[in-house]
Amino acid sequence: MTEYTSIITDVSDRVATITLNRPEALNALNGALVAELIEAAVGFDADPGIGAIVITGSERAFAAGADIKEMAELGYAEMYLGGPFPSWDGFVQMRTPVIAAVAGFALGGGCELAMMCDIILAADTAKFGQPEINLGVLPGFGGSQRLPRAIGKYKAAEMVLTGRMMGAEEAERSGLVSRVVPAAELRDEAHKVAKTIASKSLPAVYAAKDALQASQEMPLSEGLRFERHAFAASFATDDQKEGMRAFQEKRAANFTHR
Ligand code: CAA
Repeated sequence: MTEYTSIITDVSDRVATITLNRPEALNALNGALVAELIEAAVGFDADPGIGAIVITGSERAFAAGADIKEMAELGYAEMYLGGPFPSWDGFVQMRTPVIAAVAGFALGGGCELAMMCDIILAADTAKFGQPEINLGVLPGFGGSQRLPRAIGKYKAAEMVLTGRMMGAEEAERSGLVSRVVPAAELRDEAHKVAKTIASKSLPAVYAAKDALQASQEMPLSEGLRFERHAFAASFATDDQKEGMRAFQEKRAANFTHR
């Protein structure tokens, strides 16, 4: 297994967990951490033995944003070329569902990383925010685009323009997180959700993730056309036959991911 310095990886029950691990900097996302995170996640995505990925941080911070100290002195051209960070393209194109399990601070790039995931589960201690405006910049890992899609333009505008943080309850009310759980239960709960997803038919899960992704990027009519084809295509899998047969025979389905 690859040796990482800024993340910890762990696999059980077809679930890969990636723990961000720069406690001295509240898991601030520097180039090295982002490179390790993307390499590990993309590697797990390519492994058919993995059915879901959990990304989490510490009790105190999921991630307190991009590493300010690393980028403070960079200029336009360096940042336009990517700055210290590798491209997120490979990460957001992964087909395996990704769950962000957020406790403590998820600020700036940390909030944006959570929003690049498919599901956000929050501990009651979670605090979300896009405080880049306080640094004289704006969100740079997609926050100005994904936050309005998640919580609506007007609430997103207040957060991005003032830098105000929101707590877990408000984030749930706003549609940013799927559920709030006690902090002590966050890891177990995230693993449970991931294990549930990983127990389903992998081709069906990939197709469902694709369709959900399309809903964020396509007009309704195109998204519905996409879904109609994907739904029909799912009838070409062994798992569709097994799933529907198992229902009629009143037993649990035994998916083979074919
Ligand atoms: N980058 C680099 N270091 C960071 C950091 C960050 N984003 N966030 C925290 N740290 C470091 C602090 O500098 C401190 O290190 P030292 O002890 O060496 O000084 C350590 O983590 C602990 O932080 P604090 O002492 O500040 O802890 P606190 O509990 O008093 O405050 C906090 C916590 C409110 C999260 C505060 O650390 C903070 O405001 N952090 C910055 C948040 C931020 O602005 N994030 C956006 C970054 S820009 C960005 O993300 C751009 C983008 O969209 C891509």
